Amino acid sequence: MQIAQEQRWDPLVRLTHWGVAAGVLANGILTEEGSGPHQWVGYGVAALLALRWIWGLIGSPEARFSAFRPSLRRAAAHLRAIGRREKTTHRSHNPLGALMVYALWATLAIVIGSGVAMTILPGASTPPTEAPSNAQFQTPAASDDDEVREAREDGAGEGEGDEVIGEIHEVAANLLFILAGLHLLGVAFETRRSGRGILTAMLPGRRELRCKE
Ligand code: HEM
Ligand code: HEM
Repeated sequence: MQIAQEQRWDPLVRLTHWGVAAGVLANGILTEEGSGPHQWVGYGVAALLALRWIWGLIGSPEARFSAFRPSLRRAAAHLRAIGRREKTTHRSHNPLGALMVYALWATLAIVIGSGVAMTILPGASTPPTEAPSNAQFQTPAASDDDEVREAREDGAGEGEGDEVIGEIHEVAANLLFILAGLHLLGVAFETRRSGRGILTAMLPGRRELRCKE
């Protein structure tokens, strides 16, 4: 990225970035899975993401989607330039970074969408709770109920669709954590390679990013 050390992304990009990052880490580490705080943090992340996407349409030139279109061809060219030790300049995220940004956003959308689906679909995130604790006192006449109860304890009462959505949420959340890790490696690599303030540009400060092509 073609930026001087003291330049920064515009405030909305920085605010949404750190808000989303904090929310993802909070839901991955701090909140209890599926709890109220987990869901509210998730909704907060969704709101920040929506704000950023609107900004991608009407925001500052560097923040617009048009400034960092996903392109495998340009990403490959960027890799070749890295191989040749060329210091290429880019108006916004570099082509590899852009692919990562879209991958992070798409994965986040799946995590949020599946999370919301779990909470609104009937019986979805509800663990099987109806097995009575006095099961040992059941009479043989209750054996039909036992079968139903055992099925519920196995999760069969939740419906396969609900389980699938839970699986999607879990897999997508894990993928998100892996991508975030790769994202950090990418930021560290590009900072070292380019010698520019890639991370500094996301930190608080006054002068906004104004890149030249
Ligand atoms: C920043 C976004 C989010 C992240 C990183 C995240 C991450 C996670 C993780 C890692 C789990 C544990 C999965 C497992 O091991 O089974 C989980 C569970 C869960 N999440 Fe999220 N989540 C997010 C957003 C949401 C949202 C927006 C909702 C709903 C409004 C939600 C609802 C749930 C529920 C209900 C569970 C429990 C699933 C179960 O009981 O099997 N999550 N989440
Ligand atoms: C789960 C955690 C994180 C997620 C999901 C995430 C996601 C993102 C996304 C979506 C962007 C694009 C920003 C935009 O255009 O709006 C971005 C950019 C960036 N992130 Fe993160 N991020 C995370 C953590 C971090 C951390 C911990 C750091 C710093 C150590 C960091 C440093 C940066 C930098 C420097 C950029 C700008 C890259 C560039 O100049 O092309 N991120 N991140």
